[in-house]
Amino acid sequence: MKVIVITGFMGCGKSKVARALARRLDVPVVDLDDVITAREGRTPAQLITEAGESVFRSIESDTLRELLKKMQSGVIALGGGTWIQETNRELIARHSCLSIWLDVPFEVCWGRIRISDEDRPLGRTREQAQALYERRKPIYQLARFHIQRLPDEDLNSFISRLTEELDHG
Ligand code: S3P
Repeated sequence: MKVIVITGFMGCGKSKVARALARRLDVPVVDLDDVITAREGRTPAQLITEAGESVFRSIESDTLRELLKKMQSGVIALGGGTWIQETNRELIARHSCLSIWLDVPFEVCWGRIRISDEDRPLGRTREQAQALYERRKPIYQLARFHIQRLPDEDLNSFISRLTEELDHG
């Protein structure tokens, strides 16, 4: 089985979907932001705020590279900006991972970002987050699988729909 990577905007539910998909497929699940936090002793938000986004991006790529080197199967929830970096997309392709874009409307993502305790330095205002969402959309589109998640769709049914797509795609 190939490694599956889940991409999509902040607040689209990557981590939750990755956990549910991994449970269904009975494979390990990894959250890239958590791996970065454990490796660096600082969260992605702290790294972006204290060291700058470009330092964070290079740590993010190094962490992804190390992770893919040792992972044989499983599901990875990427950070919202991981897939946007070309070097990361190349890395993911080189390891023959299956990429999934979890496509969720901006309003739904923003609603979650707004009430979340988690600091997202790149999405602190609605205007900033929306501009980023629009800019990134065509790049998320490059993922091998594209799946829309409607806010009222039950997680289990969504995972069934997703695994069917993976089986047929
Ligand atoms: C980022 C998304 C965050 C985190 C960092 C940068 C981004 O992850 O990696 O704050 O550039 O969109 P989530 O998508 O899990 O919020």
